[in-house]
Amino acid sequence: MLKYRFASIEDIKKVYDLSNDPTVRKKSENTNYISWDEHVNWFNKRILNKNLPFYIVEDENENFIGQVRFERKGEETIISISIVKEFRSLGLGSQIIKKSLKLSGFTNVSAYILTDNIPSINAFSKAGFKNSNLLKFKYTQNILNNARGGVITISNRFLNQLVA
Ligand SMILES: CC(C)(COP(=O)(O)OP(=O)(O)OC[C@H]1O[C@@H](n2cnc3c(N)ncnc32)[C@H](O)[C@@H]1OP(=O)(O)O)[C@@H](O)C(=O)NCCC(=O)NCCS
Repeated sequence: MLKYRFASIEDIKKVYDLSNDPTVRKKSENTNYISWDEHVNWFNKRILNKNLPFYIVEDENENFIGQVRFERKGEETIISISIVKEFRSLGLGSQIIKKSLKLSGFTNVSAYILTDNIPSINAFSKAGFKNSNLLKFKYTQNILNNARGGVITISNRFLNQLVA
């Protein structure tokens, strides 16, 4: 049974380590290494924002499994997830996405995923997300430079009943 709670200052280091995990960086739009100062600055502000949930997921022994965040970009609510290496590919991804949506109360959410990130696309699809008809692909400068393909946007906006 996984446990969900809001991130607090005690989580600063484990979220930092997870964010700089090589796979997490590689699968992010911005692949740059995150400095500690940059992280501290961002994290302290982010945990004060109570409107947009930032969940820490743990197992029953309080081992850190990962984090889920909701961010706002214009009208859009965007979900992001990262799971620590040891707990990846165990089928937890879609479960965590579904539960986080339910806890958040958001029903219209998008995820931006690099097209080569098959585990992420699969996990979101399993959680009821559909390839968005509105925004199929978004290309960023960074991605073009690295010739990594596009960012796919998938959304649960057509499948609200699955997350109700
Ligand atoms: C993306 C992530 C959240 C997915 O969660 P997960 O628990 O590892 O994934 P799951 O075990 O639920 O697997 C999801 C699907 O991907 C498949 N999959 C898992 N690992 C895979 C791998 N290494 N290669 C190919 N497919 C893989 C699984 O078979 C499953 O597909 P299925 O439902 O058809 O069986 C997790 O891997 C992660 O945190 N990765 C690093 C950060 C990241 O990429 N975040 C998302 C940014 S958009």
